[in-house]
Amino acid sequence: MKRQKIVAGNWKMYKKLDESHALIAEVRGIVRDEYRGEGKVVLIPNFLALPSAVRLLEGTGLCVGAQNAHSEDQGAFTGEISASMLQAIGVQYCLVGHSERRQYFGETNEICANKVKSLIRLGIKPIFCIGETLDQRQNKRHFREIEEQIVQGLFHLDRKEFAQVIIAYEPIWAIGTGLSASSDQAQEIHAYIRKLIANQYTEEISSLIPILYGGSVKPENATSLFLQPDIDGGLIGGASLRARDFIDIVKAMR
Ligand code: PGA
Repeated sequence: MKRQKIVAGNWKMYKKLDESHALIAEVRGIVRDEYRGEGKVVLIPNFLALPSAVRLLEGTGLCVGAQNAHSEDQGAFTGEISASMLQAIGVQYCLVGHSERRQYFGETNEICANKVKSLIRLGIKPIFCIGETLDQRQNKRHFREIEEQIVQGLFHLDRKEFAQVIIAYEPIWAIGTGLSASSDQAQEIHAYIRKLIANQYTEEISSLIPILYGGSVKPENATSLFLQPDIDGGLIGGASLRARDFIDIVKAMR
């Protein structure tokens, strides 16, 4: 079996509803005209745009993801959206533990672990985000940090559950800064993550888990990143807001 390649566009808190619709339509059109590959394309707009994104992308092969989900199915959690609510409208992917959620909304590995469990139970694929700060890298603590996030956030899953996971390695110093990790730096961490998974589960499971790179991916650096043996695509922020750039990154998936 071959690993699934994936390019996902995280639109963050950008694009009002009509702007989201326009961008979805533009991306849909260009992907249809220009992309013949087998990689998955996932669009991750804000919550308001999710129902129409699901409708607009039905039957196109493009998928819809959410940026966050609460782990409880329902309850008195004002302002939250549950994984089961996402499932009910046909969302197929969901980011978990993006560094902005960890930094600004206090998400811990434990909170992320519960979200992952709930999403998998409902058949939604979690895109679990991990990454180190610049300070951690400079002090050579990045391997330890990555390991801790993976162990605490994912290793409570059994083999069958874990096989549903997608991991996105996003060094925090590379997100939105224009400063991408080099292909070698990214490959080194991706190979390390794969080794951790093989040790905890099996070689086979490890070889099948998609590990995406995120952090200032652009059309200019996507090809060299995606050519690395353990990089299976990307999680794209800024460049996913421009249809042309996003498609060019999608086309770098081979
Ligand atoms: P960026 O964001 O591509 O703008 O660096 C990536 C992300 O936050 O997922």
